[in-house]
Amino acid sequence: MKVAEVWQQFEKKLSGQKELKDLEVLRIEFLGRKGKVNQLLQKITQLSPEKRREFGQEVNQLKRRIEAAIERKKQELRTDLENNLSKEKLDVTLPGQEPNLGHLHPITQMKWEIADIFQRMGFEVLEPLEVNSDYANFEALNIPPDHPARDMWDTFWTREGHLPITHTSSMQNWIYRNRKPPIRAVVIGRCFRNEATDAGHEHTFHQIEGVYVDRGITVAHLIETMRVFFSEFYGRELKTKVRPSYFPFVEPGLELAIECVLCRGKGCSVCKQSGWLEILGCGQIHPSVLKEGGIDPKKHTGFAWGIGLERIIMLRYGIEDIRHFHSGDLRFIRKFK
Ligand code: PHE
Repeated sequence: MKVAEVWQQFEKKLSGQKELKDLEVLRIEFLGRKGKVNQLLQKITQLSPEKRREFGQEVNQLKRRIEAAIERKKQELRTDLENNLSKEKLDVTLPGQEPNLGHLHPITQMKWEIADIFQRMGFEVLEPLEVNSDYANFEALNIPPDHPARDMWDTFWTREGHLPITHTSSMQNWIYRNRKPPIRAVVIGRCFRNEATDAGHEHTFHQIEGVYVDRGITVAHLIETMRVFFSEFYGRELKTKVRPSYFPFVEPGLELAIECVLCRGKGCSVCKQSGWLEILGCGQIHPSVLKEGGIDPKKHTGFAWGIGLERIIMLRYGIEDIRHFHSGDLRFIRKFK
């Protein structure tokens, strides 16, 4: 093989190289101890002495050319690599793509937020039994069978005479029997009523019940507790007022109103121009109810309240129909993401 042929062969192979590590293989193939260049050099013995010098020089030149060509190619591949690396740079500090996960239902979110407000005020938070006895829902609350006050709650009944609770007051007796004064407890959970639905009424809704029993607890404590809660929930100081009302398990029974959260008391269609929103039933716990719960009403007094959860959420977000909550309509639900 001639010098020129070896060079041609080398050039051809070199031009196809893409990887730095293959260059080393190519170098050994041509410049290694048993490489093509040395093989060529061995042919020197076949030449006449006067041609040897010239041939030796030629082979040496070939060697240097190959070395230089490999070096150049190395540089080329290196800069290519660097260019590619900088193009493909991965910014590990970029935020990830937002996963399309679900989220908590607005009712659950609000339940947790409200539980948090009352826990900060020292109340424990309970969930009601959703199906309970006539005793828990009515009798223990000073509502005997056939008492006309039962008409205040349109009740579903099971065949066994149990009922899906009509209000969270159904937990009051359990609380009095299972806690010792001072008692501060909040019950948040589902209630059920056998009534026609409209924008303001659902057969299934939620209540937030609260009880506070200790020595010397008065209506003043009740009003202040409610004022603090609503101011926290609506994010600004709100005025409250009470007027007499009737529930068999409180005496006096009251209806508490807050300053309209939409018009700030000026009067609007939601508060029917009155500036006030009647928002909950409450009052001093009836002595017979305390007694039925094993608490001596001569020693301890207390207050109770029941708030409709959906109603206060609707007022906060300007939701016009209570039926949205259980509609399963994702356009509504996703607003609370
Ligand atoms: N349980 C009553 C209702 O659902 C509300 C209420 C609770 C009233 C506690 C007074 C005290 O209508």
